[in-house]
Amino acid sequence: LRSWDYGNLRIDTFVAPMSVLTNALGLLLAVTIAGTGHGVEAVVVAFTYYSSATRIMFEFNQIYRRLESSMTEAAQFTALLLTPATVLDPRSPEPAPARAADVRFEKVTFAHAGSGPLFEGLDLDVPHGAKIGLVGRSGGGKTTLTRLLLRMTDIDAGRILIGGQDISRLRQRDLRGLMAYVPQDPAMFHRTLRENIAFARPEASDAEVRRAAEAAHVTEFADALPDGLDTMVGERGVKLSGGQRQRVALARAILRDAPILLLDEATSALDSESEILVQEALWGLMEGRTALVVAHRLSTVAHMDRLVVIDHGRIVEQGTHQELLACDGAYAKLWQHQSGGFFDDSAAHSPDLR
Ligand SMILES: Nc1ncnc2c1ncn2[C@@H]1O[C@H](COP(=O)(O)OP(=O)(O)OP(=O)(O)O)[C@@H](O)[C@H]1O
Ligand SMILES: [Mg+2]
Repeated sequence: LRSWDYGNLRIDTFVAPMSVLTNALGLLLAVTIAGTGHGVEAVVVAFTYYSSATRIMFEFNQIYRRLESSMTEAAQFTALLLTPATVLDPRSPEPAPARAADVRFEKVTFAHAGSGPLFEGLDLDVPHGAKIGLVGRSGGGKTTLTRLLLRMTDIDAGRILIGGQDISRLRQRDLRGLMAYVPQDPAMFHRTLRENIAFARPEASDAEVRRAAEAAHVTEFADALPDGLDTMVGERGVKLSGGQRQRVALARAILRDAPILLLDEATSALDSESEILVQEALWGLMEGRTALVVAHRLSTVAHMDRLVVIDHGRIVEQGTHQELLACDGAYAKLWQHQSGGFFDDSAAHSPDLR
């Protein structure tokens, strides 16, 4: 597909000079015919043929362009489809748990392909409706933990349970249906903003999509675009900033209306002001749901029911913000760093937490 890209470049580079050249040729042809004294009819006939010939050429060019853009789009999905499935559905799947959404990691052992074990006998208990903040240094295993819960990869030993059911006994689609996931770097499709949001729940009405877009503050920037929510994203449309993509991803999560929320650095690219707004929407969304929220900016998770500090695949501490500050360990150190000038805004917006 690389070579296709190069072909694309070549066509685009030659189209403009080509049209100048064909226009010049047409003119030359007209002058020549007129000069040879064939009369007006000959000039008109020649010109009619000539212009329909060039029109066909340019139509062909447009068709080619459309084809090429569909091909590029299709290539993205083909790449996805060609990725071999590493996780398989069980032969006789169990029905998904009803809305009970407690999460349990039981003695989970996991190693990324080609590296040593990251988690060894990891235990984590998240009661139904609890809001858990996952924090810790980069590379600690926070993202991996969320991906294991989504069963993007299978674990090597132990069990992961939702509503008391082993997730490996569920159908993939049933499992994913239980969760709304906002990844660290959300992917956008080369489609409209509306479609990018709606794919989280294709049967949602336009009004529901609009409401989700409003709650996630997508409309704030979308309404300023010429086509609003119908503006194309990516390639030939609007390129979204990191913060804008995060808002689209949050709108998806809001629309999805799933019992478990997994947010991985979902607001990290937002400026402090937008973060406060989006955070409010998120608190509303978390109401009555189980939430696992990964954040580096501690002020975003400080209010959660429980904070779990992960380092090198181990849970080194857990408790509320106050409890963890009081025990003066890893979390207290992280907090000190962030409120002591490294991340000025985290301290500025949460003076009550000091
Ligand atoms: N696909 C992968 N293949 C191999 N190793 C991986 C893969 N993904 C993550 N790792 C490794 O696993 C460890 C945990 O990574 P993870 O992404 O879970 O950390 P994190 O806590 O989310 O970090 P951050 O805060 O930077 O997002 C790291 O050492 C990382 O290098
Ligand atoms: Mg991560």
